[in-house]
Amino acid sequence: MKIAVLPGDGIGVEIVAEALKVLHCLDLRMELEEALVGGVAYAAHGHPLPEATLALAKSADAVLFGAVGDWKYDKLERHLRPEQAILGLRKNLGLFANFRPAICYEELTHASTLKPEIVAGLDLLIIRELTGDIYFGQPRGRRISPDGAFAGAPEAFDTMRYSRPEIERIAHVAFQAARKRSRKVLSVDKANVLETFQFWRDVVTEVHAQYPDVELEHMYVDNAAMQLVKAPKRLDVIVTGNMFGDILSDEAAMLTGSIGMLPSASLNDKNQGLYEPSHGSAPDIAGQGIANPLATILSAAMMLRFSLNQEAAAQRIEAAVKSVLKQGLRTADIHSAGTTRVSTKEMGDAVVAHLKAQG
Ligand code: IPM
Ligand code: MG
Repeated sequence: MKIAVLPGDGIGVEIVAEALKVLHCLDLRMELEEALVGGVAYAAHGHPLPEATLALAKSADAVLFGAVGDWKYDKLERHLRPEQAILGLRKNLGLFANFRPAICYEELTHASTLKPEIVAGLDLLIIRELTGDIYFGQPRGRRISPDGAFAGAPEAFDTMRYSRPEIERIAHVAFQAARKRSRKVLSVDKANVLETFQFWRDVVTEVHAQYPDVELEHMYVDNAAMQLVKAPKRLDVIVTGNMFGDILSDEAAMLTGSIGMLPSASLNDKNQGLYEPSHGSAPDIAGQGIANPLATILSAAMMLRFSLNQEAAAQRIEAAVKSVLKQGLRTADIHSAGTTRVSTKEMGDAVVAHLKAQG
């Protein structure tokens, strides 16, 4: 098993270090190789996704990723910004299926900004298409507006597009995931306005014919955004496009108490995957030792499950994370009265201690 380790920027370095501690104590045979990505890679090599980093990621069974991005680099031309590294990895590795579970742990029911009764027991899964949509659609750019009321004025444009095979394959992923859960899929679109998403709805409906045992519902994205805070527990598997999935997954994160708890997996058709916390690089708290490493540790568990075929080890990590929460240990983002505030490193150490105690 070969794992490419790409800590990246900001808190990425601190949280990935804790996930590695956890992996090391599992006694699995793994080859780990680290490389630079994001702003730090730009600083060292002039590019956020250097050739060598991309080659390493391609050759690995899985990529354990921290986060990229720093205000320092916001003024660079777009293709040199840190965010291009993660977009480039997704595109080059064909990581089209992004799994973003949102689970509200019992102990953190009160950490959410929503009322406890709305979020208690929440367990939903956002499946976001990750290599298409307006994120990657061509053409895009700036030009002088050729027509319309503002002809002659400078304008910018992006292109939203989805092809049938792209929609089909993510729909299959969603229906198959639903079979392992409550057999319900909610497909989120904007079919009332956008041609791309009317097509999305048509294709998802067609694919659904192959899954008569799964219930399919369609919803417009604005309504879905509302339902997520109104009655999130009625939702289970949500499948949607790249941009809507980006937005809804941040919203769903807040239901769970902290985005610092949410792992994610991005898979291609060969089950090669990139595993990263759903949160970003948080440059404002980088280097202070206060970031929550649990999302990254839980991402490592997803990596063991999906790409490395180590279900038992994945469950051990997840159980250890539940144990530290039960023990009352909390990083700053989830800390509240009556719990014990710990640092990034102490949290990682506690997970390791619980793993060792499992025997
Ligand atoms: C995410 C992030 C990325 C995205 C950024 C960093 C490019 O917000 O993974 O959700 O928009 O996909
Ligand atoms: Mg996002």
